[in-house]
Amino acid sequence: MIILGIETSCDETSVAIVENGHQVLSVATASSEALHQKIGGIIPESAAREQLVGIIPVLEEALLLFQPQTDPRQTLEKIDCLAITHGPGLIGSLLVGIETAKTLSMATGKPLIPVNHLEAHIFANWLEKKPDQFPKMPALALIASGGHTELVLVKKKGKKYQFSFLGGTRDDASGECFDKCARVLDLGYPGGPAIAQSAQEVPEKLINKAPFSLPRPMIDQDVLDFSFSGLKTAVINQAQKLQQKNLLNKEMKNFFAWEIQEAISDCLVIKTIQASKRYPIRSLLLGGGVTANRVLREKFQKKAKELKLDLFIPKVSFCTDNGIIIGAAGYFNYQPLPWEKVIAQPSLRF
Ligand code: KG4
Ligand code: ZN
Repeated sequence: MIILGIETSCDETSVAIVENGHQVLSVATASSEALHQKIGGIIPESAAREQLVGIIPVLEEALLLFQPQTDPRQTLEKIDCLAITHGPGLIGSLLVGIETAKTLSMATGKPLIPVNHLEAHIFANWLEKKPDQFPKMPALALIASGGHTELVLVKKKGKKYQFSFLGGTRDDASGECFDKCARVLDLGYPGGPAIAQSAQEVPEKLINKAPFSLPRPMIDQDVLDFSFSGLKTAVINQAQKLQQKNLLNKEMKNFFAWEIQEAISDCLVIKTIQASKRYPIRSLLLGGGVTANRVLREKFQKKAKELKLDLFIPKVSFCTDNGIIIGAAGYFNYQPLPWEKVIAQPSLRF
């Protein structure tokens, strides 16, 4: 089954063609990231406008990459189904993809599958694998992205996947914490990669020698929830103190970046491992933009080896938002709806 996946929930406009949920046939992505870099965060209205600019060229590009030198309208006939993110996300951005997908479905008569963006981050773990390498169920999934930080239990009943929310952030998401801390320190946007880059600049001999430490909120509490706003506040307070003494220079910012990355990754790993001990899981799955972080991936790999957990981490380009994961989710959770019933759900949950 060949699925055309469309993702427009935030600042990426992405269309991909995916076969049987795991084989990538083509992908095209545009991002309005550069626009948001100027102010260090996303302006929803600007993101939605950029989606409008990008959607048709990106759709055409994905079809042309699949079948070069062929009229994209003809290539569309090779597609079996359309899959579209219907939430969660920014309403204006979501609507652009949804209306495009509905129009395509209406015009071509192809089935339309609404996809939960959070589930799509989980199905990134099926990509480029043979069916005998797919994650075994039940599984525990950690989704760590710009808007979400959630632990989810994934089960399979017959052919259907079921998701149960186990815990999540009580305030800021882990990616949001990276982004906001990077803004406080003027390191750039998106904050995750900017902080990872800055942390890397701490010289080997000064690692763990920062003149301050940051909290790891909730790690000792017996709940599967996260909290990152206190960490952000600690960064703001510490940065202000150093600024007043004129000590917030490049080296100090690198120390901050190192400590922020350590603190966020510690919280994510510790809580996920706590959860893995409570449920009889056969696989541990990661997903979402934050799981592109190298330090976090290494910490998970070390723990999984120690505890003999079957860990799955999507390759870096499948961690952040793209149409491929939507095409994968559309296949594995195949539940088409008549196009007129597909509506944007900005606050969709599990
Ligand atoms: O999944 P995603 O692309 O979009 C959402 O669904 O939110 O995640 C975006 C988030 C941003 O907060 C970004 O700073 C973070 O993922 N991110 C990273 C890295 N790459 C992206 N965080 C830490 N380290 C990275 N290498
Ligand atoms: Zn995402």
